[in-house]
Amino acid sequence: MTWLITGGAGYIGAHVVRAMTEAGERTVVYDDLSTGVAERVPAEVPLVRGSTLDADLLARTLAEHEITGVVHLAAKKQVGESVERPLHYYHQNVEGLRVLLEAVTRAEVPSFLFSSSAAVYGMPDVDLVTEETPCRPMSPYGETKLIGEWLVRAAGRATGLSTASLRYFNVAGAASPELADTGVSNLIPMVFEKLTEGAPPRIFGDDYATPDGTCVRDYIHVADLAEAHVTVARALESSPGTDLTLNIGRGEGVSVREMIDLVNAVTGYDRPPTVTPRRPGDPARVVASADRIATELSWQAKYDVQDMITSAWDGWLHHHPEAARS
Ligand code: WQD
Repeated sequence: MTWLITGGAGYIGAHVVRAMTEAGERTVVYDDLSTGVAERVPAEVPLVRGSTLDADLLARTLAEHEITGVVHLAAKKQVGESVERPLHYYHQNVEGLRVLLEAVTRAEVPSFLFSSSAAVYGMPDVDLVTEETPCRPMSPYGETKLIGEWLVRAAGRATGLSTASLRYFNVAGAASPELADTGVSNLIPMVFEKLTEGAPPRIFGDDYATPDGTCVRDYIHVADLAEAHVTVARALESSPGTDLTLNIGRGEGVSVREMIDLVNAVTGYDRPPTVTPRRPGDPARVVASADRIATELSWQAKYDVQDMITSAWDGWLHHHPEAARS
């Protein structure tokens, strides 16, 4: 098999490339490098620089590299930005996927794995979110992921393409420092940034209906998430006509306050957080039921939250050497 990994120069994509390559699969990266970084792609993995809106380049790439499966991660992923620029998000994430699916089905590529998100659920009112929990996305970003799942499934039904949509929960950590997330838009890097600036980390609201009043999430190590892609890719290869929708989480809720306490412990800063007003649109609790992938594919996460924070901190120090000196 040769897998085309769109978005393979991104934080999650580069981990998927590494996991698939280590599992013995051939990979080719397709990335427009708008936020991806070419240095994340191993020298031996071909990198095609291009957009998923470019039908001609996609068709050429699928043919030239004899692609037999696609893992599609290339997308815009900032929830707040999607509220400001919904048409841009729909164009990139929905139209980009439609064009890609057209190329994939024309080339008769048999397997397609789509990167979806827990954002499809919106504000779930259940303790553990199963794949059957109704999807009510709260942002254009979440809408584009849900529509993406529909497109992928419809293409599969019409053409026999084997498909899977993986709903990632809160992804964190790094398999090695150079692959770490360099963005500062999620909780752990935002806490690192505050601590290394000498400022207190912020809790966005502590009056939620949760045990300590702060929001609860299901954090998943990016190395575990990448391994899940290998497992699902193999399942698609071995059972043509498959259509899977799977949560990728650990089934364990951790509060913002617990996370900040752990970050303080791992980094040795020991700086108490300050509480600021709620961030609009944040659900109180989003925790996966991780049962379906465990039952159907015998997959479960190996790493815990401590592993995520420790590896993310190693990555932060790698990308911010000044923080190590301070
Ligand atoms: C986690 C919790 C914040 C920073 C988002 C997207 C989701 C997915 C992952 C996909 C929240 C709180 C944060 C801080 C805080 N994106 N927080 N202080 O919002 O659960 O999920 O990223 O590609 O679709 O919605 O993740 O890491 O931003 O926040 O209190 O300085 O931490 O309010 O409760 P979120 P997050």
